[in-house]
Amino acid sequence: MKDRGSFGSKFGVILASAGSAVGLGNVWRFPTEVGNNGGAAFIIIYILCVVFVGVPVMVSEFVIGRHTHANTISAYSQLAPGTWWRLQGVSGVFVAFLILSYYIIISGWTFFYLTESAINSLSVSRDYSAYFNDFVSNPWEPVIYAAIVMLMVHVIIARGVQSGIEAFSKIFMPLLLVIIIVLVGCSFNMPGSSEGLRFLLQPDFSKVTPSVVLSAMGQAFFSLSLAMGCLCTYASYFGPDTKLVKTAVSVSVIDTCVAVLSGFIIFPAVFSVQGVEVNAGPGLVFITLPNVFIMAFHNVPVLGYIFSGLFYMLLLLAAVTSAMSLHESVTAYVHEVVHVSRRTASSIVSISCMLLGVTCSLSFGLWSDFTIFDMTIFDLFDFVASKILMPIGGLVICLFVGWYLDKKLVHDEITNQGTVPFRFFQSFIFLIRYVVPVAMTLIFVNELLFR
Ligand code: TRP
Repeated sequence: MKDRGSFGSKFGVILASAGSAVGLGNVWRFPTEVGNNGGAAFIIIYILCVVFVGVPVMVSEFVIGRHTHANTISAYSQLAPGTWWRLQGVSGVFVAFLILSYYIIISGWTFFYLTESAINSLSVSRDYSAYFNDFVSNPWEPVIYAAIVMLMVHVIIARGVQSGIEAFSKIFMPLLLVIIIVLVGCSFNMPGSSEGLRFLLQPDFSKVTPSVVLSAMGQAFFSLSLAMGCLCTYASYFGPDTKLVKTAVSVSVIDTCVAVLSGFIIFPAVFSVQGVEVNAGPGLVFITLPNVFIMAFHNVPVLGYIFSGLFYMLLLLAAVTSAMSLHESVTAYVHEVVHVSRRTASSIVSISCMLLGVTCSLSFGLWSDFTIFDMTIFDLFDFVASKILMPIGGLVICLFVGWYLDKKLVHDEITNQGTVPFRFFQSFIFLIRYVVPVAMTLIFVNELLFR
């Protein structure tokens, strides 16, 4: 396919893919899960899931994307013409669209908190639970903030792969890593922070149940942006000399380090003040942390100002680079299949996704009583996307690459036509043929039966 655009450098490939992976899932969801599921024990299990399940699935997505150089739906149609496999592409694009519609709303919350912290409004002692609930249940405000973030994402995507996605990833990702290091440094220096470190580093295996293992796996999937065609779409812009395994390993290492470091930012800070619940759930970053910032820095409020500003900046940068990849998988499809310009495609996606996003946002306020299967619209979207379609997607991708595709094609793609040796090819095939499919089936059954 001509004029598709491609990444300009290896560095750009890694930063853009890591940008997709590093997101709210790392900074917000991961520490919450660690807090709920036994600290370091969860981290150890999580890392095993990344190595044995995450990396093989990521490599499989890269194989599909780079081999076809097409959007996800066309990719499956090219590799398996006239078959049902195409549905996996369809589901990938659909789910990316669904996830983006609620992801953008939460990104809007982080933008609101960033502006509030910039005008020093987060230094006021108040009931942050009520503050947060007032904001999210307002019919307009969260939508406006989300629309501004969507506009940023839209502008980047409309500029194209190299001057949009790659150029911005090269600015945002190093900035994000610097912010993380500064924040970890600050957090370690808080009085009483060693308590938080102990919590993160001392494994409590008594909390580990089969369902904790499955939620570690689900978290790894979400965090690595797997099974939704995001990385498959990015891989379609990789050049012939991009090393797929090396890229997958680098992206997974960066993603896991950011997740663990986010824990190192949050827990020492939270433990350094008395009387704050650790496992405060989703309210952790929007309710617990503003309190922590105020209490921990009441002697030097200017440090609290800097800490909270940097923290919400980190959250926003992480959110925007992930939203870019979700947007791109849908935009690439609209652009290539509906045959409209990239700009028009991007506008169609931004506007329609925002409209859907409005319904998610309203489900925190006006429409909070409206439920389907006992879930609000927001919860339903998250459930369908990340609990149902994601494990199914993971399963289908592995079956496709492990069983359907010609092994020689897969081998040639992974080794760049035999020029990059890959000693673990047989182990890779074994993992995606047997281990990952069993794992995915278990996650799926567990979600359906024991939700
Ligand atoms: N990985 C991102 C995060 O950690 C979110 C994300 C981006 C994602 N693209 C995805 C999740 C595709 C699932 C599928 O926040």
